[in-house]
Amino acid sequence: MHARITGTGGYLPAKVLTNADLERMVDTTDEWITERTGIRKRHVAEDGETTCDLAEQAARRALEMAGRSPRDVDLIIVATTTPDRVFPSTACQLQRRLDVHGCPAFDIQAVCTGFVYALDVANRFVQTGAARCALVVGAETLSRILDWSDRTTCVLFGDGAGAVVLEASEEPGLLSTHLHADGSFENLLMVPYGVSQGYDKVLAGEAFIQMKGNEVFKVAVNTLGRIVDETLEHNKMDKAEIDWLIPHQANIRIISATARKLRMPMERVVVTVDEHGNTSAASIPLALDVAVRDGRVRKGDMLMMEAFGGGFTWGSALLRF
Ligand code: UT7
Repeated sequence: MHARITGTGGYLPAKVLTNADLERMVDTTDEWITERTGIRKRHVAEDGETTCDLAEQAARRALEMAGRSPRDVDLIIVATTTPDRVFPSTACQLQRRLDVHGCPAFDIQAVCTGFVYALDVANRFVQTGAARCALVVGAETLSRILDWSDRTTCVLFGDGAGAVVLEASEEPGLLSTHLHADGSFENLLMVPYGVSQGYDKVLAGEAFIQMKGNEVFKVAVNTLGRIVDETLEHNKMDKAEIDWLIPHQANIRIISATARKLRMPMERVVVTVDEHGNTSAASIPLALDVAVRDGRVRKGDMLMMEAFGGGFTWGSALLRF
């Protein structure tokens, strides 16, 4: 049994923060942000608007495109680093909102690679017959774990959610997924406090993203170059057979480096980082949804997804849409 994406959905909070807005908040310029990252604006959740709110909208849109109702769903996985609560998981909260009862629902935390991890797990459920209609969501409110006085991080991230419906199919859809992690790089990218290691610090507002951006950048470019090679070799496929690169959207310079490695012109790369910033686990399903809805990605196209993020984690997926 194969697993195919039959619907995509995305949702961005209404509130927009431009580079000009950030110029008024920290010592930065539109020119610096645009040149170094490619980001022009990002969406930010309003007070009280949560990861699950965004996930629900994206999930409903994906179900609508797939022609499925919530009662068809028999697996819910939400990739997030910014859950609404310690528990229930965001997936269980989403399940309640969709009025679905009984099917497995759980969160996956692999930061910016979260969606690829979630897709891999859902694929295994579908391939083994344990699920026939999975809802796979990447949803984040990264704005909640940013130090808005730290110009090295606050200009980079945004909030949003993307979702896909992954269904059992006779036709091949997902061809392979490749997951990796190396925890030894934690000092380059982390939130230094969490539940078990100082909840008081979380409550005191000290649990913010810290990143040595320049060093992360170099590892990301090299690692993503390796994972696209690994993915192509595994499938005995040539670069030229890829129709669309759907990368994690952290920085246009990282995206361009991977595109060059694949010898893909930027017209074949879905770029949303300019409009969304880095939405972590939401960035790939959001980018896919944009390209499906504007007619670029069509049924039968060969897609390469790749991501790199905190952990470090990294991964890829090759699929026939
Ligand atoms: O998604 C998960 C993984 N994360 C990533 O993939 C992010 C990877 N890293 C990056 O995207 C880039 O490294 C950044 C965009 C974060 C930074 O770009 P960079 O070209 O690597 O800049 P840098 O960190 O080397 O900083 C260069 C200069 C520094 O000033 P000095 O020391 O040269 O005087 C920074 O202080 O730019 C300064 N700077 C800023 N200036 C204006 C840092 N942030 C800002 C800012 N506005 N917002």
